[in-house]
Amino acid sequence: MLDPDRLPRHVAIIMDGNGRWAKQRGLPRVYGHKKGAEVVKKIVQKTRSLGIPYLTLYAFSKENWQRPEKEKKFLFSLLKEYLKKEVPELRQQEIRLKVIGDREDFSQDIQEMLEWAEKETEKGKKLTLCLALSYGGRAEILRAVRLICGEVKKGKLDPSEIKEELFRKFLYTADMPDPDLLIRTSGEMRISNFLIFQMAYTEFYFTPVYWPDFTEEEYIKALEDFQRRERRFGRINEF
Ligand code: FPP
Repeated sequence: MLDPDRLPRHVAIIMDGNGRWAKQRGLPRVYGHKKGAEVVKKIVQKTRSLGIPYLTLYAFSKENWQRPEKEKKFLFSLLKEYLKKEVPELRQQEIRLKVIGDREDFSQDIQEMLEWAEKETEKGKKLTLCLALSYGGRAEILRAVRLICGEVKKGKLDPSEIKEELFRKFLYTADMPDPDLLIRTSGEMRISNFLIFQMAYTEFYFTPVYWPDFTEEEYIKALEDFQRRERRFGRINEF
């Protein structure tokens, strides 16, 4: 049973195992991605109905650019199809879509579509659905450093002012709380350059289930597990 008062505010998910799921069935890898996109819809709905206000999904990493052209093409067409179909629905359900990552790496038509999707859904207050696209944690930190150096160079900022709270303002996630819970499917126990600054105190949950098989029940299991954890943030628990 879930305690509605102790839900995470922000869940981050590494949706892994699409390729292996397909291979296991003798299907091309892309079938796994197709099924994976359907799972995305279900998990977004569940997150909204539980009242969790932030969900971040690792949809395409900086490293994923090294995948075969054919697979990338398929993933991008899936993304476009998802946005085209889902954005009106997201808008109606008051879900705000936000994209983090180096969007300028994508073709012009995808960049325009991402902008359109964000604009259409900008008033959504029930849930922020954050898609990490061409995202890498180290790249995000370096980008923040470059932006801050620019401010210093212009004389707008003094290096003594560069504290944690200021640094956060230059990250893609400036308007979001840090993830409370990270879920990674498919049995891999790595963080793979995902939100590395933001996850300093995040609880990690790993499951062997492949992403296309990740159900609402599996999601609830992860949330129940989270609720059994004691979070101390470096303190002791005598208060
Ligand atoms: C990891 O599985 C998954 C990805 C790199 C892509 C994630 C994309 C989706 C779930 C579908 C599209 C998303 C949206 C938002 C429409 P993998 O290919 O690394 O699997 P493997 O480790 O078994 O090879």
